[in-house]
Amino acid sequence: MKLLVTGGAGFIGSCFIKYILNNHQDWSIVNLDALEYAGNPDNLREVENNSNYKFVHGNICNRVLVSDIMHECDCVVNFAAQTHVDRSIVSPDAFVETNIKGTFNLLDAALKSGGKRFVQISTDEVYGSIEEGYFTENSQVSPNSPYSASKASADLLALSYYSTYGLSVSVTRCSNNYGPNQYPEKLIPFFITRLLNDKTIPLYGDGLNVRDWLYVYDHCSAIEKVILSGRAGEVYNIGGHCEKTNIEIAKIILNYFGYDESRIEYVEDRLGHDRRYAIDNTKICSELGWAPSMKFEDGIKSTIDWYVNNKDWIINAGKRALMLAV
Ligand SMILES: NC(=O)c1ccc[n+]([C@@H]2O[C@H](COP(=O)([O-])OP(=O)(O)OC[C@H]3O[C@@H](n4cnc5c(N)ncnc54)[C@H](O)[C@@H]3O)[C@@H](O)[C@H]2O)c1
Repeated sequence: MKLLVTGGAGFIGSCFIKYILNNHQDWSIVNLDALEYAGNPDNLREVENNSNYKFVHGNICNRVLVSDIMHECDCVVNFAAQTHVDRSIVSPDAFVETNIKGTFNLLDAALKSGGKRFVQISTDEVYGSIEEGYFTENSQVSPNSPYSASKASADLLALSYYSTYGLSVSVTRCSNNYGPNQYPEKLIPFFITRLLNDKTIPLYGDGLNVRDWLYVYDHCSAIEKVILSGRAGEVYNIGGHCEKTNIEIAKIILNYFGYDESRIEYVEDRLGHDRRYAIDNTKICSELGWAPSMKFEDGIKSTIDWYVNNKDWIINAGKRALMLAV
């Protein structure tokens, strides 16, 4: 299998590339990544000399480049995206550009180069907020932020390429991931790095927003199942059934470092902040035989350990982002 992975220098994409190269010696990967602030070549040091791996520095919106690379592959796994909700509230343009137009560009190239398998990596955020119960794949999309709206748009475009042209598209909608190599603007690495710098941890609103957490390598194994056996035209929810409020996450991380709750600083809530995300993962479990393997208590400990033991990675990630911002 020859994969075109987009956004493979980011958090989940880089873990996915390492996971696949470790588990499939006969697969090869071309990683197309624009190296935006969250894309970090350090995430891929251990595979950069692997003969089954090739990095291409480029943008998924570049039609010529994308159609050139597309010929080399059997299957596209599209991780490339602008991913931070707060940034989408301040400047949504880049989210429309990459998440919608970039996905369209990939779909069109996949179709025009003979019809490649296409796995669109999406998020549970497209369903919006739910007070009780769980979203299934048949639930209506009802996104509330420019980020989740751009992802929902890309999902619908991707599924239309199945309905209209018969392109072999599957969409995955995963809950919040945690693990190593996540750019420290997202909740868990943000809290960890703040505490490593002896600062407080800012918590939005009352801290009672609920997210379902999944260890990143469990997400990778689910995507592998979808590539191999997922049905075309179908959506697969990927979740850990591991709901935590943000304040619970804060307390777990504080506890690891031996701090009490006086380190929490309550700050004004995010605009349009979704209260609870929760998805039903029955379909992928029963149809594709997937199950998460990492217990949250073990995964969060090893995740915090990773950041504590990789302070250079944190510093370099911050420096790269600063350099890109000027
Ligand atoms: N992090 C989560 O909890 C989570 C949960 C569910 C779904 N997702 C989805 O998974 C995917 C990966 O998320 P992540 O957390 O690894 O994101 P990330 O922000 O860590 O990485 C995104 C990657 O995409 C690259 N990129 C951005 N714009 C690009 C462009 N125009 N062309 C090429 N590359 C570009 C960046 O350089 C970066 O390497 C996203 O599509 C996201 O919506 C993430």
